[in-house]
Amino acid sequence: TVGKATNIVWHKCSVEKCDRQGLLEQKGCVIWITGLSGSGKSTLACALSRGLHERGKLTYILDGDNVRHGLNSDLGFKAEDRAENIRRIGEVAKLFADAGIICIASLISPYRKDRDACRALLPERDFIEVFLDVPLEVCEARDPKGLYKLARSGKIKGFTGIDDPYEPPVSCEIVLRQKAGICFPPCAMAETVISYLEEKS
Ligand code: PPS
Repeated sequence: TVGKATNIVWHKCSVEKCDRQGLLEQKGCVIWITGLSGSGKSTLACALSRGLHERGKLTYILDGDNVRHGLNSDLGFKAEDRAENIRRIGEVAKLFADAGIICIASLISPYRKDRDACRALLPERDFIEVFLDVPLEVCEARDPKGLYKLARSGKIKGFTGIDDPYEPPVSCEIVLRQKAGICFPPCAMAETVISYLEEKS
């Protein structure tokens, strides 16, 4: 029959997540970086990946912008497209974590319910939400891609923080707060995340 698949059965394999983790000597998990455009998500993701790589840990970054070039190239920025973008990245991140890899997802993921749905895909300890809490004024002043300017002039519609909402996490594992004039180097923020991971083994 067409439509939603029915009559499908999960196939288990004798090589499991714990076996893969044993080989890699690490725990697979998802580090989910959320924040406004221009808050520094991709930069933090790279610094984190570098810091973990230098400690011998296997990581992989799923960056919203990058995934939209391929797997999610059919999606735009309407609420339902963003929800689908986040859902797919959440599912792919879960597969990476199952492979034993430390998956760093960095995307605006502006709606709380979409992020929470991704969290629900994984065991509690395996989803670490990092909120890059940078005020809109700071992101807008940075405007690395000139998108805020286009959004303010009405050339881009539905831009997060301008005419589309961003719902900050109510409770998440790590908040990295920045203010105007106080900006932490990416490697220092990455170290904060790595310390958290080490503490929680
Ligand atoms: S989302 O909301 O999680 O689905 O977005 P994401 O996949 O992270 O993609 C965000 C990047 O797309 C660019 N862009 C926009 N962002 C927000 N709103 C609108 N309307 C928009 N149009 C294009 C922008 O470069 C975002 O990149 P970052 O790295 O966040 O600045």
